[in-house]
Amino acid sequence: MTEPKQLAVQALQWTGDSLKVLDQRLLPETIAYEDYRDAQGVAEAIKTMRVRGAPAIGIAAAYGVALSVKLHCYDRSVNWSDQVFADIERLAASRPTAVNLFWALDRMKALLNSQPEDPVAATQALAVEIHQDDIAANHRIGELGADIIGGAKGVLTHCNAGALATGGYGTALGVIRSACRRGLNKVFAGETRPWLQGARLTVWELAQDGIAATLIADSAAAWLMKSGAVDWIVVGADRIAANGDTANKIGTYSLAVLAKQHGVKVMVAAPLSTIDWNLADGSGIEIEQREPNELLPDSYNQESLVSAWNPVFDVTPVELIAAIVTERGVVVNPSENGMGSLKS
Ligand code: MRU
Repeated sequence: MTEPKQLAVQALQWTGDSLKVLDQRLLPETIAYEDYRDAQGVAEAIKTMRVRGAPAIGIAAAYGVALSVKLHCYDRSVNWSDQVFADIERLAASRPTAVNLFWALDRMKALLNSQPEDPVAATQALAVEIHQDDIAANHRIGELGADIIGGAKGVLTHCNAGALATGGYGTALGVIRSACRRGLNKVFAGETRPWLQGARLTVWELAQDGIAATLIADSAAAWLMKSGAVDWIVVGADRIAANGDTANKIGTYSLAVLAKQHGVKVMVAAPLSTIDWNLADGSGIEIEQREPNELLPDSYNQESLVSAWNPVFDVTPVELIAAIVTERGVVVNPSENGMGSLKS
């Protein structure tokens, strides 16, 4: 086994004064970073999906808070912390489903409430720590997941749960990267309509890393499973309830149902920051609805008789999940074994 090399793709770069965000709406044609110096801009970058993916959203929000503190804390004419807490609210309103966003903001709030001597240095240090911890968690998840799927004939992934969606390396793609280093050589990715995270991001990201992947239309998944080419579906998560029910990109639930029919197993790979211990099960997870125009062809925009229903996540019941892989360890058959071993 060779050591992991530096990844070609980085969604977020902290400069010390600003956050550089790779604009994922433009990939794969254009690689362009935008420079953000305030929380308002970062909130907008999250809302418009320049940065996306649960862990990456949380990390960006943490840097957003650090930028807000830097901007307001030297302003003696106002109560600067009110401005920062207003920015935290703004960041929290940017997207509803990925719990990593609220987890990161809670950590930043707790730090501010502890009234650190140097709030600028302290908030920047915590944002960097959240970022670095996520990368380390991804590598651990990758190795643990690869231990389980070692020997798989092929795997199918959905959406993009890679370096682009995290601090780096990825969750589902972390598992796939690690498994490929151990000999896995058949990786399929669903295109992931309507935003095409699979087609535009996943196969591109893997190619940047020298990993060949085969794109399928989402509607080809059942037929792929029937062919016997894959024995695992490996996905990330936006929020995992305390019982293991898992919210992830729309279409994940369909894949899990199809997987059951075909004897294919489902692995959810996610850091602990994606587990929402406050929710007993997945019924309490807010599912983001995005604009119909993300789905509708432009020519229908003025047509009142044509509308679109565009939920962008769904919840896979824990009974359909064979393994949940985190940096703290793996739960096999979580519906039978429970999630208790992942609690601190
Ligand atoms: O709408 P997106 O692109 O932010 O959705 C992302 C996903 O659903 C990912 O699968 C999930 O966040 C896991 S990322 C490691």
